[in-house]
Amino acid sequence: MSKIIITGVAGLLGSRMAEWILANHPEYTIIGIDDLSGGYKDYVPAKVQFHQLDLSKDSIAPLFEGVSIVYHFAAYAAEGLSPFIRKYNYNSNLIATANVVNACIEHGIGRLVFTSSMAVYGHGQPPFKESDQPNPIDPYGVAKYACEMDIKIAAEQHGLEYCIIRPHNVYGHNQNIWDRYRNVLGIWMYQHINGLPFTIFGDGSQQRAFSCIDDCLLPLWKAGNDARAKNQIINMGSWKYWSIKDAAETLKRVIGNGEIKYEQARHEVKDALPSHELSVTLLDYEDNTSLEQGLTDMWHWAKQQPLRPQKSWDSYELEKGIYGFWKNK
Ligand SMILES: NC(=O)c1ccc[n+]([C@@H]2O[C@H](COP(=O)([O-])OP(=O)(O)OC[C@H]3O[C@@H](n4cnc5c(N)ncnc54)[C@H](O)[C@@H]3O)[C@@H](O)[C@H]2O)c1
Repeated sequence: MSKIIITGVAGLLGSRMAEWILANHPEYTIIGIDDLSGGYKDYVPAKVQFHQLDLSKDSIAPLFEGVSIVYHFAAYAAEGLSPFIRKYNYNSNLIATANVVNACIEHGIGRLVFTSSMAVYGHGQPPFKESDQPNPIDPYGVAKYACEMDIKIAAEQHGLEYCIIRPHNVYGHNQNIWDRYRNVLGIWMYQHINGLPFTIFGDGSQQRAFSCIDDCLLPLWKAGNDARAKNQIINMGSWKYWSIKDAAETLKRVIGNGEIKYEQARHEVKDALPSHELSVTLLDYEDNTSLEQGLTDMWHWAKQQPLRPQKSWDSYELEKGIYGFWKNK
């Protein structure tokens, strides 16, 4: 039986990709790796051979024997927090990826699919094209760009085949809604469930391309298999753009009520919008799910989740410059 490794299998992309492969390609055995630092074991399908391991320090190479595709999704994707947890960020993103790349080379795996981020573009000129010169503005984006370069070097020197995906604000059920530092739509759902207003940083005019995970699964599969995607870097995201304020208004409509509270602006990109031509021609991406429809499904799921405490860092690596809303009370 052919084998696929999914890292970050307890997270949004990992758990949903595992479900999708099991349903559509049951001929594959899935080996899942996750340290459960940001995902939940409940989301890992029972048929996945699960290994609770920290990619930044544990030995993983033996698991890669005989594997044809590796989906490397594991990361701590708290972009706005990354300047205050630099070392943790580089461990979770860059060092963990180096461990994965070593294991892929050692075992001659067929293709590595790596989820980079729109964060590599920084204050680019939207819509961001894959050929634009990356210019990240925070340690998370720097780590993702470094991973991309490392993978390209591994391809040149060791013949590692890859596909790098730059996702843009993917959301849907199985997203972590209990982390106050990331996933804005999930944060708002957590806030509403707990009787709090939706918080918006700045005036809410910043734009994002919210992309439903359901539309990403077939393209991600093709990223691992299709000849067109070999050694390519491809944006993945909706081509409908939303201001954060309009996205909050949409969620209010889906829920039936809700309040908005404006907070201090953060150091962040104003409009992070992808070009989508390559995702269409190389991965057959289709932007099928409207934000209203995707949020309706996610809200239905969120209401049925256990009341978990919200993740909060006890202390940051750097307190200097931390925003008021993240200061420990
Ligand atoms: N969701 C998005 O909008 C988005 C946008 C751009 C990029 N990405 C990238 O896509 C990937 C998947 O994102 P997601 O939304 O599914 O995130 P997620 O947090 O839901 O899943 C990531 C998983 O990785 C695990 N993990 C973190 N560090 C680990 C480590 N050191 N060892 C083992 N497991 C570890 C976490 O426990 C979690 O289950 C990430 O690399 C992220 O940077 C996501």
